[in-house]
Amino acid sequence: MFYIENLRLKGLRNYRNQELQFNPRLNVICGENAQGKTNLLEAIYYLSVTRSFRTKNDQELANREDGFFYLKGKFIKNGFNHEVQVSYIPKSPLKVKINSDPVNRYAHLQKFPVVVFSPDDLLLISEGPSIRRRFLNLEASRLSSIYFDELRSYQRVLQQRNHLLKSLYNRNRRQADELLEPWDKSLVMLGSRIIHSRLELIMDLAEEAKIFFQHMTSFTENISLFYESSIDYRESPEETGDAFYMALQEKRDLEIKRGSTVLGPHLDDLRIFIDGFDTRKYSSQGQKRTAALALKMAEVSLFKKEHEDYPIILLDDVFSEFDQGRKMHLLEFLKKSSGQCFISTAGDTGELIESLNRDYKIISIWQGRVCDEKSGPGN
Ligand SMILES: Nc1ncnc2c1ncn2[C@@H]1O[C@H](COP(=O)(O)OP(=O)(O)OP(=O)(O)O)[C@@H](O)[C@H]1O
Ligand SMILES: [Mg+2]
Repeated sequence: MFYIENLRLKGLRNYRNQELQFNPRLNVICGENAQGKTNLLEAIYYLSVTRSFRTKNDQELANREDGFFYLKGKFIKNGFNHEVQVSYIPKSPLKVKINSDPVNRYAHLQKFPVVVFSPDDLLLISEGPSIRRRFLNLEASRLSSIYFDELRSYQRVLQQRNHLLKSLYNRNRRQADELLEPWDKSLVMLGSRIIHSRLELIMDLAEEAKIFFQHMTSFTENISLFYESSIDYRESPEETGDAFYMALQEKRDLEIKRGSTVLGPHLDDLRIFIDGFDTRKYSSQGQKRTAALALKMAEVSLFKKEHEDYPIILLDDVFSEFDQGRKMHLLEFLKKSSGQCFISTAGDTGELIESLNRDYKIISIWQGRVCDEKSGPGN
C-alpha cells in the first residue's frame, strides 16, 4: 500500500502554516470557492513530482507575503516511511530532502507516484502539441529513468545543434556538413530512442484509456491514440535512426537558413480521436473532458502495473463537470482502485462518501486553514 500520511505547508500559496493528517484511503477536501482546496492538492503533487500541475513558475506557489515555501510530508510505501521535504527560496535551487538526506530535485520522480486530474486538463485535448509532448515526457520519465536521462541529453544536443546552425549561415556546405556530423549522430540516436519509448507508452496508454472510455460512455464511444511524428518512424529505433539521419541531410539548407532543427521528437504530437474524429476539432466539452480523464486514469492503471500499487489519485473539482452516468462510472473506477484518493469539491460530500463506501476523512478548508475535520468508516 502506498499513501501520504501527513503534510506540513508553510508559505504555500494561501497556506501560511498548516499541518494535516490524512486517511490512507479517502480524503474529501471541501470548502467554498477560493479557500485553498486546489492549493492543497497542488502541494501533495509538488511533494511527489517537485513541480506543480498548474504552473512552471515556482515563485507563483510562494505566498505573496512570505515569498518562500516549505513542504514536508510522510509517504508510506510497503510499510516504510519516506519523509520528503522541499524548500523553495527565490533565486536559489530547490532543496529536496528524503529522510534528511539531500537529493537531486528529480531523483525521486518514480518513487512516489501521484496522478492528478483537474479542470485544466481539458487543455490537454484543446491546446497545441506542446502540452501533450509535456504529458508524454513526464509520464515516460516517471515510468523510466532511462527516458528521463535520454530526454535531458536530447534537449542539450538540440540546443547546441541549433546554436551551431545559427553560426553556419555564411559557411560552405562541406564545412557545414563536417561541423554538423557529430551533432546529427547524437540527435538521431537519442531522438529515435525517445520516439520508440513514446510509441511504447502510447500503445500501453491507448489500451487502458480505451477500456476506461468505453465504461464512461456506456460502450457507445471509442477513443484511440496515435503518435504523429515529424520522422517517418520504422519497426526498430535503429531503422528509425537511419530514416531520421537521411531526412536531416535533405533538410540541411532549410535548417541553416532557419538556424534551427526542423525534425525530431521535440516537434511531435499525440493525436487523440473519438470514433475516428480528431477530439481537438470535433469533440464536445464533455467528450474532451472524458478523453482527458481517460488519459489520466490510463496513467493510474499503468502505474499500478509498474509499481504493483495504486498511485495516489488527486481529483480536483471533477464531479461537477460530468453528467450523472459518467459520474457513476468514475466512482465505480475509483471504488475498484484500492489506493489513496483525494477529492476536492465545493459541493455536497454526502453522495461521494456513500458511493465510495470506504473509510474516509472530510477536511474542510477556509482561508488557507483547516476549519473542520470529520472521519468515518465505510459500511
Ligand atoms: N502565491 C499566493 N499567495 C497568496 N495567496 C494565493 C497565492 N496563489 C493563490 N492564492 C490564493 O489562494 C486562494 C485559494 O486558491 P485555490 O485555487 O486553492 O481555491 P479553491 O478552494 O480550489 O477554489 P475553487 O473552488 O474556486 O477552485 C485564492 O484566493 C488565491 O488568490
Ligand atoms: Mg479549485
